Amino acid sequence: MRIPEQKIEEIKNSADIVDIISEYVQLKKRGKNFVGLCPFHREKTPSFTVSIDKQIYHCFGCHIGGNVFSFLMEYKKISFVEAVQELAEHLGVKLDFDESYSKNQSEQEILFDINTEVARYYSNNLLNELEAEYARSYLEKRNIKIQTIRAFGLGFALNKWDSLVKFLIGKNIDIDKALHLGLIGKTNNGKLYDKLAGRLIFPIFSPNGRVVAFAGRTLTEESDTPKYINSPESLIYVKGRVLYGLSFAKDEIRKLNNVILVEGYMDLISLYQNGIKNVVAISGTALTDEQAQLLSRYTRNIILLFDSDTSGINASLRSIEILLKRDCDVKIASLPSSEDPDSFINKYGKEKFTKIIKQADNFLEFHTAYLEKQGAFKDPQKTVEAIRELIKPVAIIEDELKRTILIKNISKKFNLREKLLENELDKLIKDKSKLSVKTQQKSEDLNKDSDLFDLKFYHPKNSILINKEVEIIKLLFEGDKNILEIIFSNIEPEKFELEINKKIFLRVKDEFENFGNCHPSHLISLFDEETQKYLRQITLQNFTISDHWEGKYPTENYDKIIFDYTKDLIIKLKQLIIDKQISDKQKLIKSSNDESIILSLIREINELSKKKLNISLELPQNNP
Ligand code: GTP
Ligand code: MN
Repeated sequence: MRIPEQKIEEIKNSADIVDIISEYVQLKKRGKNFVGLCPFHREKTPSFTVSIDKQIYHCFGCHIGGNVFSFLMEYKKISFVEAVQELAEHLGVKLDFDESYSKNQSEQEILFDINTEVARYYSNNLLNELEAEYARSYLEKRNIKIQTIRAFGLGFALNKWDSLVKFLIGKNIDIDKALHLGLIGKTNNGKLYDKLAGRLIFPIFSPNGRVVAFAGRTLTEESDTPKYINSPESLIYVKGRVLYGLSFAKDEIRKLNNVILVEGYMDLISLYQNGIKNVVAISGTALTDEQAQLLSRYTRNIILLFDSDTSGINASLRSIEILLKRDCDVKIASLPSSEDPDSFINKYGKEKFTKIIKQADNFLEFHTAYLEKQGAFKDPQKTVEAIRELIKPVAIIEDELKRTILIKNISKKFNLREKLLENELDKLIKDKSKLSVKTQQKSEDLNKDSDLFDLKFYHPKNSILINKEVEIIKLLFEGDKNILEIIFSNIEPEKFELEINKKIFLRVKDEFENFGNCHPSHLISLFDEETQKYLRQITLQNFTISDHWEGKYPTENYDKIIFDYTKDLIIKLKQLIIDKQISDKQKLIKSSNDESIILSLIREINELSKKKLNISLELPQNNP
């Protein structure tokens, strides 16, 4: 699939990186940039930085960064083409494809293609192979219709250890990649085998509907084999970031503005077949924060519908906190004991099911009822503990009004004194805000440290000259034509101290002079990954315009202030370079015995001194 360069530029230019990233990361303005908690590594204090002007992001903690496309690719584990498609969709830009394109695919793209081929192979087995008869009759027994099998791409892995291996070899598919995807395994003596042989196959899709992994359900009753086997994590599959069925459900979720969260693949499929399409499955594991975040992009109204056994209840309780933190409204629906959504809808039908969903409890009522059932409100000692536990999730909710209503309801329902609940809540909220003040302070300290670290890291000598040089490089990425012009007509990078700065300077100059392009994120994209990392680091740091300006940014007259700063810097850098030449020559004088050489060195020093005096006069005063 090929998207024309021009189109990609158009999409990139109409997207605002802060807007896009804000959908996934809470950003706060700090100085000229925005900061937030990095979604790519665990941190308590924000070092993830996004720049509106430069349209780039960078994490000063884990050094991941790039432009709006690379953010989407990294965050959603999708390919470049998918990232472009997703943004285009978001912006309402139409894409025309050139289908003939196949070369130059990204690694992820290749993996997606392998999974697609294999999914097709499994599906074909299920629909057509003689040997798959028992799989077909199993599905029939479970009331799964042929259209549903097709819609979800269900398949069957033939019950021979090497059927898939043979298929892969026949199709000339890269075996190492198939191993990476966990489609096949390798025994100690090097034999390749199908990991899901004999199983019913559920392809697992990305939100965009691409196959990222497979789950295989056993069709035997033997208890020594796991009921489900899943693909391992891979370059395209991060378990905690995938919700089964989302690609099928997302439109309906948006339309109804709510989602039903179930546990199993079969639950989702059965509900879908019965016309309940706003459903996703967490597939047995505990809900992760990333899944909650993913879901909250489509709706914040979440209905949990887990099995009514203890593990289901525990899963509900754990999920509640995670969802509340993402600012979701959480309700819990309960099925009669020993039923799961799949068995329930098959037994009682859509109408009864819808009733169950309508009757869903608010999470607090659910939790209270649960504690009550356990006898927690009979014993005064236990009551205190139970109330504390009840209030904990309420304290997570940001909206004060919502909190108050919840507390009122609970106190009424269980005849508990409202004041008692309020006091407990206040305590928790105070603890929480104390915590956040602390984190903020720490983050400021950390930021200072990280600046120091970066300077030390890249500039072991830390000379004044290098600092000025770096400031010049930073200015090249301000996206300001006037600044680039004045720098290029006054600075020669041949005298730069650091090779990397020289390289960057010359490449940007070349690009600017030949194509007139000065957009920061475009200029950064011209370099290799290491250099890009370096550039993101330095360009996202504030200019050291003056010592007491640290961290503060002029909001008015920014262009003029930066332009004046550039001129100053050019003058200082030139002077510094001359100073260095002079001091080099002075050293030579000291170590020389030859009078004529000394004399000519002195003359040269005089020349240089004169030149130094004239520097500020040479610089044109063409203010923009
Ligand atoms: P059926 O038994 O066919 O109705 O499947 P189910 O989806 O209802 O399974 P169940 O309710 O037992 O489990 C819920 C979900 O947990 C499943 O859909 C799987 O995602 C996951 N799960 C269950 N058993 C296993 C297992 O042995 N291994 C793994 N990796 N996941 C499992
Ligand atoms: Mn089930």
